[in-house]
Amino acid sequence: MQLGSVKVLIVPNYHSMSEWVAREIATRVREIPHLRLGLATGSTPEGVYQHLIQIYYRTGVSFRHCVTFNLDEYVGLAPDHPQSYRSYMTNRLFDKLDLTMSQTYLPLGNSYDLMDECDRYEQLIQSYGGIDLQILGIGLNGHIGFNEPGTSWDSDTHVVRLTSSTRMANLRFFHTLSDVPTHAITMGIGTILRSKQIYLLAAGEKKAEVVRRLLLEEPCIKLPASALHHHPDATLIVDQAAISKVKW
Ligand code: GLP
Repeated sequence: MQLGSVKVLIVPNYHSMSEWVAREIATRVREIPHLRLGLATGSTPEGVYQHLIQIYYRTGVSFRHCVTFNLDEYVGLAPDHPQSYRSYMTNRLFDKLDLTMSQTYLPLGNSYDLMDECDRYEQLIQSYGGIDLQILGIGLNGHIGFNEPGTSWDSDTHVVRLTSSTRMANLRFFHTLSDVPTHAITMGIGTILRSKQIYLLAAGEKKAEVVRRLLLEEPCIKLPASALHHHPDATLIVDQAAISKVKW
């Protein structure tokens, strides 16, 4: 199904969404062993990673020639901080597959020179020839990566100040609000749009309103995810709950 230029795949529930995306990734890795995979954090892709690990153990599909690039990282957290996105990825995926640390990239959130780190990360992605397949989640305000509403659609990797709603949404991973970082380094919307293919995942009733806006409102910089309507190969994979506010 297609509304605007984002393709839409509707699946029954979170489990089937996770399974479908994990199978697709495994298929792509079999076809292109040197796949350059863009990865996301948040709760949404956790199921995909669990299924991918199961497929890895069941079928032996190998990731040893892949490289991965994560969308973002908190500023001020060392890579080994328990709430860093590096730790999230190591614990939920990297350590469970045949991937070494040197194949997996995230921005360095505790870098001494953050501007320099943003340039380095952007160039690193380009030096590999860009991303083949980018997995994305979506924030309640339509953010992708940490690109908050108003971010330019041609932005490269940059430092962002997190909105209070994004900090509140991420509070569940920290003890108190003051522990939640105020800034992050994120791939820009331009960086994301340069990926060859994009899967945007949305599950659950909480995402129904933002999915409605994405599919039924005019693309606009107030809704960062709507930039995907300008991508030639972007697919929104949604479960029934997340699509429930879109009536045809
Ligand atoms: C964070 C991440 C995003 C993610 C979003 C939604 O802000 N930086 O990449 O898409 O949260 O998270 P969730 O999947 O938990 O709803």
